[in-house]
Amino acid sequence: MSFHVLVPDNVHQSAIDRLRAQKGIRVSAPGKLERADLLSAVADVHALIIRSGVAADAELLDAANELRAIARAGVGVDNVDLAAATARGVVVMNTPGGNTISTAEYTLGLMLALARHIPQGHASLAAGRWDRKRFGGVELRGKTLGIIGLGRIGQAIALRAQAFEMSVVAHDPYLPPEIAQGLAVPLLGLEEVYAQADFLSLHALISHETRGMINAGSIARMKDDVRIINAARGALINEADLADALQSGRVAGAALDVYAQEPPPPDNPLLGLPNVIHTPHLAASTADAQVTVAVEAAQLILDFLLDGKVANTCN
Ligand code: MLT
Repeated sequence: MSFHVLVPDNVHQSAIDRLRAQKGIRVSAPGKLERADLLSAVADVHALIIRSGVAADAELLDAANELRAIARAGVGVDNVDLAAATARGVVVMNTPGGNTISTAEYTLGLMLALARHIPQGHASLAAGRWDRKRFGGVELRGKTLGIIGLGRIGQAIALRAQAFEMSVVAHDPYLPPEIAQGLAVPLLGLEEVYAQADFLSLHALISHETRGMINAGSIARMKDDVRIINAARGALINEADLADALQSGRVAGAALDVYAQEPPPPDNPLLGLPNVIHTPHLAASTADAQVTVAVEAAQLILDFLLDGKVANTCN
């Protein structure tokens, strides 16, 4: 029996090599496919390896009659219709640890860039100006970082922020308190985190409780001049409300790597605001993380197809 694995996204070559080295596995790795091509390409595949750019929705699952498993080279499975996959007997697995440090380091980078206007200073000098007055910033030392979602990534950020002499507080209703105690991070109610944070960094999953949690109402309960960082999921933020708060100066700045719709449409109200730093979902995009998650995803698929083993299941 031979299994067909499709990798319809830019997953690191090491995953393809790992799969191709295995007898009984046929691999198609066309890179990122247009939707129509993707729907025909999945017709005979037994497994898929995807990143966040491929929507594994009911339509795709219906087109993939032979599909048995999806491995997500990364953490978030919000691009996979888990209920539809379960209904069709398709196992969904992810690689939760592989890009933790890359995402944490990137978040710190966004926070520093936000505090010191580094991208704005770069753009100004590149445009021929020498403007030292406009881009005065603030230190991280002595400021309070509020982390919403103290999972793997939130914890790695907490440790790094403490090295910058920040006070770190967090909200996470699902974390065993002893983990937060071990990090010396007080676990607080959401309202207390909003009230205390000078910098607020989002690391929660999307759920009915967290979707749009950063909105006009919650912003009104934050400190004046709060700075908001989001390298998790765009849908945590009501983008129109945040844009209003940035324009009024109620929120001093935002550093955003993720958007409700990706790529964000040109009329996204946050694009181009002078106090916003935006990047195109890059937090996990390091050579180190991409190799790790790709190889882990390939191994998950091999273990499942060849030995019937499942790990890191999401459904
Ligand atoms: C993840 O969920 O792992 C990150 O957002 C990175 C990605 O989507 O590739």
